[in-house]
Amino acid sequence: TMRSKLMVGNWKMNGSLAANASLLSDILAGMAGVTCRAAVCSPFVYLPQLQVLLAGSSVASGAQDVSMHESGAFTGEVSASMLRDFGVRFAIVGHSERRQYHGETDAQVAAKAQRALAAGITPIVCVGESLVEREAGQTEAVVKRQLAAVIHANGHCISEIVVAYEPVWAIGTGRTATPEMAQQVHAVLRSQLQAATAHADRVSILYGGSMNAANAAELLAQPDVDGGLIGGAALKGPDFLCMLQAAS
Ligand code: G3H
Repeated sequence: TMRSKLMVGNWKMNGSLAANASLLSDILAGMAGVTCRAAVCSPFVYLPQLQVLLAGSSVASGAQDVSMHESGAFTGEVSASMLRDFGVRFAIVGHSERRQYHGETDAQVAAKAQRALAAGITPIVCVGESLVEREAGQTEAVVKRQLAAVIHANGHCISEIVVAYEPVWAIGTGRTATPEMAQQVHAVLRSQLQAATAHADRVSILYGGSMNAANAAELLAQPDVDGGLIGGAALKGPDFLCMLQAAS
């Protein structure tokens, strides 16, 4: 396809200055032959470290969240323009852990995507159903509702986002969606994007949820699986590199 694969590591709340330096040096040392796009999303405090250690490399940095506000009295929040100051290229928005543990709504996620885009940062918009929702046959309705809010708020800019389909029951569980299950949902999301923009073919739709070195290739072989959003397996240099190779 016209979309080169995009592989994104989401470190979640893991790492230290020393551990990050070691992981990044392993990754950078193994980039020969990697032709896919690659990024790592660290906790906010390590973004300056990423800016230094990834300078001049083909690995981009990303944040795991961004404020829905532009600036002002929002204690503890980090704005999109602040991220921009540190060379950040991506911001994950609406990760299921934010939706579940911090009560983020579809409208807030859409506003975060909007702030990111306005600052020149690519939002990685996460959508995905819970196990209860899947078993109730609501998967399509849930992911469409989540993406619709972002489409509604972002209009023609929607072709600039990245989407990540992350079934909640697959996150950190070792239970991966089958390639067919992933493709089915990705195709639904693609057609929803097609109804909103003439450039839906440019939007990368990533799969996330227990993607690892052993299952990445078959997931990435699906026509609408344009890359991965990888948690646990992105914390191990050899595993992450193996997935970058599978996407190249
Ligand atoms: O953002 C990453 C996803 O939540 C997947 O995490 O690869 O540890 O299942 P996982």
